[in-house]
Amino acid sequence: MPPADAPLESILFHADQIAARVRELAEMITEDVRRDELGELAVVVVADGAIVFAADLIRAIPAPLRLHTVKMNSYGARLTSSGEVRLIGPAPEVRGRDVLIVEDILDTGLTLGTLRTLLVDAGATSVRTAVLLDKPSGRRRPYSAEYVGFTCPDAFVVGYGLDFDGLYRNLPHIGELRRDLR
Ligand code: IMP
Repeated sequence: MPPADAPLESILFHADQIAARVRELAEMITEDVRRDELGELAVVVVADGAIVFAADLIRAIPAPLRLHTVKMNSYGARLTSSGEVRLIGPAPEVRGRDVLIVEDILDTGLTLGTLRTLLVDAGATSVRTAVLLDKPSGRRRPYSAEYVGFTCPDAFVVGYGLDFDGLYRNLPHIGELRRDLR
């Protein structure tokens, strides 16, 4: 079996570092839920990329929560000026709920901007966002997440849920993909 980092040019965030930061984010979220006396959280996970992050994050949050997954179709969003992103399937039932969106990476801001608007329109009481990575250099629409794991350099990264053409989501570390694999 090849080593877990074999497809990576370089590792930007090691598995241990990610695990420690995810626990810190969970503590921050738990503290905010307690302080703001929120009821049951509706956790909205942007599939497929955020599944790995969400699986670790929610298990470190002891507050009551319900899990929802959404899929967003961002086909062409990076290539066209329209930047159109759409929800695939029905919107989650979040009326009167305090929502926590969980996303792998905040890049252009188009996906999260669209999703947040949609959840507010669906009647969410509050919407907060947790992203593992923030790539501020990619922003095309202003968006700031309340909980950010790491600031990511302007590079295409894979691992820990992040893919290239559907692959590499299972790598435990996050890093740049080897040039010969792109
Ligand atoms: P945004 O709408 O550009 O903010 O898009 C966020 C989505 O783009 C993420 O959910 C990822 O699927 C994808 N994405 C952006 N940057 C990367 C990257 O470096 N690696 C893998 N996927 C990325």
